[in-house]
Amino acid sequence: MRRAALIAALLVASCRGSRAPRADAGEQAFIAFTPDFQGFQRWPRTHLGRFSSGGHLEGPQQYAYINRPRREGSRLYDTGTIIVRTRERGAPTEWQIFASVKRGGSYNARGNVGWEFFRLRLDAQGRVVIIARGLNPRTGLEDPYATGEGVGCNTCHGTTDARTYDGVISPMLRPPDP
Ligand code: HEC
Repeated sequence: MRRAALIAALLVASCRGSRAPRADAGEQAFIAFTPDFQGFQRWPRTHLGRFSSGGHLEGPQQYAYINRPRREGSRLYDTGTIIVRTRERGAPTEWQIFASVKRGGSYNARGNVGWEFFRLRLDAQGRVVIIARGLNPRTGLEDPYATGEGVGCNTCHGTTDARTYDGVISPMLRPPDP
């Protein structure tokens, strides 16, 4: 297990150039910063369709972008995984953008274990800006579609059911049934 985590961490480091993963409470962890999200628009993406989520606002242009696939047969996403969920209506600066990042270790131990939540937006040059992050990110913006704002992303992504699937809810992305 430790060895697998180490290999995963080394892979992250090699894919990401010179930046080494940082330690978090003595365990291997990946702490995402703005550069880690840049160019997500070119990552492999899954069309989420008009899936009635009961969570995020629906719309025809919804995508999940992932920086690395879940390992075949694994029930967990590796530390270092970034899933960006967009609702692409209007100009990119208007898109609603959420992200879950597998930070690893004991982060968010009582909720969506290992995952940190983000609210992002794109600036006029198409660069990603982090507007909120953490266990319960609040943007403070007047946003009528602010899924999770104040309520907390763990409300849905940290349930016992969601945790059975590594906190990932979309049927297109969640690990197979146990
Ligand atoms: C009311 C329930 C609910 C809340 C609160 C919620 N989500 Fe979700 N989320 C869902 C559902 C359902 C899906 C899968 C269907 C979809 O994409 O609409 C999903 C999908 C996602 C995905 C794509 C990967 C996956 O798990 O399927 C990301 C990333 C995501 N949410 C991030 C967030 C973040 C960040 C927050 C908090 C700011 C948040 N969510 C709050 C219900 C919720």
